[in-house]
Amino acid sequence: MGSFNLNKIMMAVLLTALGMIGIGGLTEAIFDREGLEKNAYPIEVETATAAAPAEAAVVEQGPSLAELLATASAEKGQKIFKKCKACHSADNGGKNLVGPNLWNIVGRAKGSHAGYGYSDAMKAKGGTWTYEDLFTFLKKPKDFVPGTKMGFAGLKKPADRAALLAYLRTFSDAPVALPTADAPAAD
Ligand code: HEC
Repeated sequence: MGSFNLNKIMMAVLLTALGMIGIGGLTEAIFDREGLEKNAYPIEVETATAAAPAEAAVVEQGPSLAELLATASAEKGQKIFKKCKACHSADNGGKNLVGPNLWNIVGRAKGSHAGYGYSDAMKAKGGTWTYEDLFTFLKKPKDFVPGTKMGFAGLKKPADRAALLAYLRTFSDAPVALPTADAPAAD
């Protein structure tokens, strides 16, 4: 009888302790969630900042842009462009949104779209948007144009950027010719 009561008491102590840990854990989980929800922003900002150096090296040795573009699918690019649509319209005569309208973007002078307030960095960049420049810019906008206000981390995969370019070039009545192979094939 006595030991039965002791067991009961010990059990009660144990359960209480467990309960407190449980509640503590739960509270933490709830606060963590709230923290996340507050920070969550629907647009991908700076999520893909740190590309591993090893990966970057591999990318450099990959197929040339001309090769990638030769097989790039504009249809796949259209899907990827959904990420851009939060900030860009690509319609002919479409409005400037958070970012400038992208009609005729290939071959257009950088930072030149009428009625859009570009960052000083973009205005100072100079030159036109060639396929090569767009390809580099879209990998990591803040690397290509330090100080740009385009809040988009970038697309790491070369194939994704090539597909996107295949779609971007359709935003024109006279799409700019694709680059021809800049490096002859090894064989
Ligand atoms: C969070 C909003 C946002 C997203 C998402 C975004 N952009 Fe932008 N983009 C901007 C802003 C803002 C600028 C103007 C940058 C500046 O002035 O520095 C810009 C500028 C550009 C420019 C230069 C245009 C010019 O007239 O010189 C190109 C090209 C571009 N964006 C393409 C894209 C593509 C393609 C995507 C999708 C992969 C994309 N952007 C996603 C906001 C965004």
